[in-house]
Amino acid sequence: MLRRTLLWASTNPFLAERLPRYGFVKRATRRFMPGEELSDALAAARELADGGIASTLTLLGEHLTADSQADEVHDHYVTVLERIAELGLDAEISVKPTQVGLDFSSEGAHARLLSLMRATKSRVWIDMESAEHVDATLDIFRGLRQEGDNVGVCLQSYLRRSLADLEALLPLDPSIRVVKGAYREPPEVAFPSKGDVDRNFVKMTALLLMARAAGSSATTIVATHDTRMLAEAGRLAYELGVDKRAYEYSMLYGIAEREQRRLALNGHRVRVLVSYGAAWFAWYMRRLAERPANLWFVAKQLVR
Ligand code: FDA
Repeated sequence: MLRRTLLWASTNPFLAERLPRYGFVKRATRRFMPGEELSDALAAARELADGGIASTLTLLGEHLTADSQADEVHDHYVTVLERIAELGLDAEISVKPTQVGLDFSSEGAHARLLSLMRATKSRVWIDMESAEHVDATLDIFRGLRQEGDNVGVCLQSYLRRSLADLEALLPLDPSIRVVKGAYREPPEVAFPSKGDVDRNFVKMTALLLMARAAGSSATTIVATHDTRMLAEAGRLAYELGVDKRAYEYSMLYGIAEREQRRLALNGHRVRVLVSYGAAWFAWYMRRLAERPANLWFVAKQLVR
């Protein structure tokens, strides 16, 4: 119930307008983001790199409504890519399709993502948003994959359709980030039970690793903080003889940091997604919904 309420709040414009004005709410975001500025994210990426952990940078914001806004996001990411190159960081970017115009022009979103791919040799990630965007997002991914291999897309194991989507994408030797899924979806679309979501997560990871073992260059990103999923992926990779360098574990900034360090020390590739920017409200509500115990952290900031 609390999870559903928090997910409802994440899409409520009234709350999005008012809650971020409160200092205690803003302070509470520090649990999951190093700051609002690109410089904060780059400093966090440098610190992670010093501990042998790579990063993915993502500017918060979604559902933009005008070409000028989407162009601004595109131009910002070009700057990010330049700064990453200047600093010699092992960092990629991850972009929400509706942040580069998907809500009003999939051609525009495609063109902006293609331009970002051409501005870097590192991978450009396409986030997966709520279920109504999946078809358009996968169409864009397929188109971009024809243009180069430095593009990857996220698939969500809570969606009933995702296993079939993954099977259909495998001939492209895709880079896929497997996540559980963070949005509020109806039961016809998404498995309501956590057990089913977890089983599907393992199935999708296994399918990708098996493809790799069979000679595909498909890349698996196991993006979760769930230690059972992480261990299962490692076990499967080991049994299939997939090299540790051929897949990655990915987690969110500020979550399961001990596990991030443990995996990196054990020779695994670990990448942390670092979010930054002023438009953090919807994203922050989704983080609270994933673990309502995080509300204690917000409450503590209120008391302070
Ligand atoms: P699960 O929710 O089962 O949590 C497992 C354990 O992890 C919990 O018991 C807790 O210990 C810890 N944990 C999880 N979330 C926490 C939190 N917020 N605070 C504190 N502890 C927490 N989603 C999406 O729909 N589209 C996308 O593009 C992406 N992209 C993405 C990239 C990366 C790198 C990651 C790690 C995640 C995403 N996600 C995402 C989010 C994803 O769908 C999912 O909501 C979160 O990863 C939380 O789910 P877990 O897999 O960690 O499992």
